[in-house]
Amino acid sequence: MDDNRSVPFVDLPAQIALVREEIEKRFAQIIDTTSFILREHCQRFEEEFRRYLGVGHALGVGNGTDALVLALRAIGLRPGDEVITAANSFIATAEAIVLAGGQPVLVDVDARTYNIDPARVHEVVTPRTRALIPVHLYGQPASMRPLLDLARDRGLAVIEDAAQAHGARYDGRRVGSLGTLGCFSFYPTKNLGAFGDAGGVVTDDDELAVRVRMLRDHGGLTADDHDIVGQNSRMDALQAAVLSVKLAHLDEWNDRRRHRAACYAERLSALEDRVVAPHADGDHIYHIYVIRVAAQRRDPLLRY
Ligand SMILES: Cc1ncc(COP(=O)(O)O)c(C=O)c1O
Repeated sequence: MDDNRSVPFVDLPAQIALVREEIEKRFAQIIDTTSFILREHCQRFEEEFRRYLGVGHALGVGNGTDALVLALRAIGLRPGDEVITAANSFIATAEAIVLAGGQPVLVDVDARTYNIDPARVHEVVTPRTRALIPVHLYGQPASMRPLLDLARDRGLAVIEDAAQAHGARYDGRRVGSLGTLGCFSFYPTKNLGAFGDAGGVVTDDDELAVRVRMLRDHGGLTADDHDIVGQNSRMDALQAAVLSVKLAHLDEWNDRRRHRAACYAERLSALEDRVVAPHADGDHIYHIYVIRVAAQRRDPLLRY
């Protein structure tokens, strides 16, 4: 492991070079119109992302953490309500539950897929459970069918944390479109990444869409109305323009990741029980290709 050729975690300059000219053109338009927040550039991306996912509504917000907070606020989470999520997610998932006044209930994951284990979710549902947040971690769809069945039986909301899974499919449908609401992060290194912080909330539910629209912009639908206590979590036009340009390439870029993952899988076949197992019903988009290694090998491998 002394090899000094290091492999970059992500090569953003190479990706940006492919779209830079188009993004610069859009930036020039935004500067000329001084239409910097929400409005036409954001609406354009929202409509493109809505169609891409096949959902009724897509709303641009400030970041992926806010997307989760806004979704939880939109369903009317009350103080102390329990929200079940995966124990191994990025901190933002549990953090959003706490920020929205809820109590996170962490459930362990399937050792092969690294996603929430539906059998264990059954064991922790209580009368205080209000929602489930499956996380499509590393780009692999969580096992949604049993979770959606459970939610239907127990009257729970399902909020998908799709922050790492733009474009992944489960049962043929794009993740984010399967639950009550879907939440995305467009952090720069994500498969669909902005040039700063940005996030999205999607839903088929007209009323929830109105709630999120109000909550993200100080509680109102117009500049002069503030009907509920909202927050400031609006998408800005420069980020929307980047996302709009990149969205057109997302499927192709995800295909390339799949191709590279297949190369890794072939070359790492000796580690079979240590690489994430692709889910039979899902279409992994490999935001991250994860392998498990012995503790003493981890840090040297990480440096490599
Ligand atoms: C699974 C998951 N959920 C939520 C988030 C939060 O997104 P953001 O960093 O845009 O707030 C992230 C971001 O990395 C994430 O990976």
